[in-house]
Formats: sequence, C-alpha cells, structure tokens
Amino acid sequence: MNDRERAPSLPVIQVKDLSMDFGGIRAINSLGLEVSRGEILALIGPNGAGKTTLFNCLTGIYRPSQGDIVLSSPAGGSHRINGLKPNRITTMGMARTFQNIRLFPNMTVLENVMIGRHCRTRSRIAGAIFRGKKTVREEREVVQVSYGILQKVGLAHAVNDLAKNLPYGAQRRLEIARALATEPFLLLLDEPAAGMNPQETGELDSLITRIRDEEHISILLIEHDMKLVMSISDRIVVMDYGRKIAEGVPDAIRSNEEVIRAYLGEEFSA
Ligand SMILES: Nc1ncnc2c1ncn2[C@@H]1O[C@H](COP(=O)(O)OP(=O)(O)OP(=O)(O)O)[C@@H](O)[C@H]1O
Ligand SMILES: [Mg+2]
Repeated sequence: MNDRERAPSLPVIQVKDLSMDFGGIRAINSLGLEVSRGEILALIGPNGAGKTTLFNCLTGIYRPSQGDIVLSSPAGGSHRINGLKPNRITTMGMARTFQNIRLFPNMTVLENVMIGRHCRTRSRIAGAIFRGKKTVREEREVVQVSYGILQKVGLAHAVNDLAKNLPYGAQRRLEIARALATEPFLLLLDEPAAGMNPQETGELDSLITRIRDEEHISILLIEHDMKLVMSISDRIVVMDYGRKIAEGVPDAIRSNEEVIRAYLGEEFSA
C-alpha cells in the first residue's frame, strides 16, 4: 500500500445535488460527486449525457440552476464556487482543457503556455508598459517555468512552432501544458484522447499518471476511450441523461448491467 492509498480521502471538489437547465432541457439532474485528493476520477457516458455541461458548471462558464460546488484547496480553505468567474476559479486552483481544442493558433507553443502562467504573476498591463526590473525578472521566470512544463509534456522540441502547425495529439498535450501553467491542484480533462492514435493515447496514459503522481494534481477526466479509462482511473462515475447511474472502481463499472445497457455495450463486458 502506498502513501496515497493510506491517506484519508479528503475531497478537493464536492458537487452536491447539481442541476443545469437549458430552457426545457435538464442537462444535469441532481448530480452529486466528489474527487478526492490524489485521485483520478473518470466521468463516462453516452453523447449528450451532460459531461461537458458539468465541466462548464464547475469552471464558471455556466451558473448552475441548482446545487452546490465546493472547492477545497490542499493548502487549506473550502469555497463555494457556484457562479464565480472562470478566471477566478482558475486562480483558486482548478484548470481545464476543452473538448474542442482552444489554443491561440497563430502564437507559438511557448507563448500559449506563458498565457496560462500569467494568472500566477503580478505585473500585468501596467508592468508590460513600464517594464521595470521586477517585470523583467518575472517575465524571465514565466519563460523558464513554461519551458519546464513543455519538457514535462514532451513538447520542448517545438517551443517556437506555431500552435496550429502541431500534430493533433501534440495540440492536446499543449492544452494540458497551458492548464498546468496555472498551477492547479485539480485538473479537468475533456476527452484528451479524442483523435489520438493508439501510440499517442499510450503516451497520454503515462502523462496523466505522472501529473497525478509527480505534480500531486487530482484529475477529473471525461473520456470515451475505455482502454485508457479502465487503465488509469481509481474510480469511475457514469452519467446518462444528466443523472449519475453508477459509480465505482473500474472492475465494478465494467460488469454493471445498467452501464453496459446504457453505454458500454455487451461486447465490452465480455
Ligand atoms: N448551451 C447550451 N444550450 C442548450 N443546450 C445545451 C447547451 N449545452 C449543452 N446543451 C445540451 O445539454 C445536453 C448535454 O450536453 P453535453 O455537451 O454536456 O454532453 P456530453 O456528455 O459532453 O456529450 P459528448 O460525449 O457528445 O461530448 C445535450 O442535450 C446538449 O444539447
Ligand atoms: Mg462533451
């Protein structure tokens, strides 16, 4: 048993009785879940189940119609974050990637990561104009930290390439790098393996595990690649029509009748 398994499972985020309505559509219906410190929790379910909508509620893009979202920093302090602005939530320690990649296509790989980093530095517009000694030092720090993160995700060779010229799998890793630059304690990944070939997915598997083990970042992961989900997740939550229909360790989810019916299909359970 390692340290992580022995540690009490303190939550980094708690979602309580959450609902999200769009007009007459209830995209999330009384959903509850928790991610524990050091955990990789996967969120799976059919198209339209409400997975991305949940991420949009957690990260402040949508204000939920009902319920509570409580973010608890490992450094101490719990905050109800419903309806806070996305950049405020990022500064509090939750970062994400997007199902549809959102990079700055005409900026370099390094610049894309530096933008993420700027939420952790003090001198902004005024500093950029006057460029005092402190600003110059801070800029140098931003470059160094951003480069270090690119090394971790395997993109150090491409720092000066334009983001739009990277292969698809590398763009997804760059999105992860930009999220890491905000120094999160909780990272939300929305279909990080989408469009990747099996080799890239294999590399992603070890990257996500390393982020958890070496950076001590908890992970909430939406993913349709069941090989990846079953291999890296500590627990899995299954959604269907906005509701949680199952929750458990991979082996339990794999053989859950309702999950097989709603999502996995018979061939997967065989
Ligand atoms: N801004 C919006 N306005 C209206 N309806 C929305 C909006 N965003 C999401 N929905 C609806 O909410 C439901 C859940 O969509 P969501 O994108 O969260 O599904 P998902 O589980 O992420 O699916 P996928 O696996 O295809 O990405 C869908 O019926 C969708 O049409
Ligand atoms: Mg989605």
